Amino acid sequence: MPEEDKEGRNYHVEKKAKSELFYLKGSNELGWGMKNRLARVFNPKDGRTIMLAIDHGYFQGPTTGLERIDVDIMPLVPYADTLMLTRGILRTIVPPSITKPIMVRASGGPSILKELSNEEIAMDIEDAIRLGVCGTAIQVFIGGEFESRSVVNMTKLVDSGLRYGIPTMAVTAVGREMARTPKYFRLATRICAELGAHIVKTYYTEEGFETITATCPVPIVIAGGKKRPEMDALEMAYRAIDQGAAGVDMGRNIFQSDSPHGMMQAINAVVHGNAKPKEAFDLYKQVKSEEQK
Ligand code: R5P
Repeated sequence: MPEEDKEGRNYHVEKKAKSELFYLKGSNELGWGMKNRLARVFNPKDGRTIMLAIDHGYFQGPTTGLERIDVDIMPLVPYADTLMLTRGILRTIVPPSITKPIMVRASGGPSILKELSNEEIAMDIEDAIRLGVCGTAIQVFIGGEFESRSVVNMTKLVDSGLRYGIPTMAVTAVGREMARTPKYFRLATRICAELGAHIVKTYYTEEGFETITATCPVPIVIAGGKKRPEMDALEMAYRAIDQGAAGVDMGRNIFQSDSPHGMMQAINAVVHGNAKPKEAFDLYKQVKSEEQK
């Protein structure tokens, strides 16, 4: 028989129970599981994230820098907050002992040889649950040939994610014929958020980026886009954060750099350390020169 419990003194009747607002924009009304997953992706200390995007192979095969994810990418993982990748790479290359949150690419279909907007949802939500991911990602092609299909695909993924507390990140994909203007991205990001996306990934615009973050009611992260000089990429990340982005979901500007380790650490300094671009660039150069010794 267990001993009878003597009721104690620790009722703290004078203390009000806490009821906290969730720190991420637009996320306060979500359920506990959804918030907990978001809190693993976006550091609760500053509400920001560095997602390392390595999902490019899902439509373009072994992209430069991603030929050997096991050799070249896995050593970078400690410097990222989150890994964004496909379930194939997750299962075949990433050790299950990893504790980093995972955003899994959940759309696919066409390759670079075909019309890219002709995507479908390419995984069941049950597999996302099985993999223990913190979110799914899906491409949305506003203005693209299969615009409606991609938008409805996103809403379906949002609905299945809501059933199980798994956030959905909408990735605004820009067709070659579309101008990358603030007006276009205000439209695209807002449509994604209005239709239920919990995070929206978009591109940085040199002018008016703050109008995109202001009019999108959920956190925005920026893609890096094509490889550019390291200083330019750091400048872009700095400005995006300064103008309201909640982080980066960056790929080529990290893994195609001549020092992916240097870039990873420099981006970290910008996103979480509020480092100015020049300071971050110096860190990149320092890491690079140490690697060459
Ligand atoms: C599209 O290919 C993927 O969603 C990438 O994850 C995304 O474009 C980010 O990668 P990058 O920084 O290379 O543009």
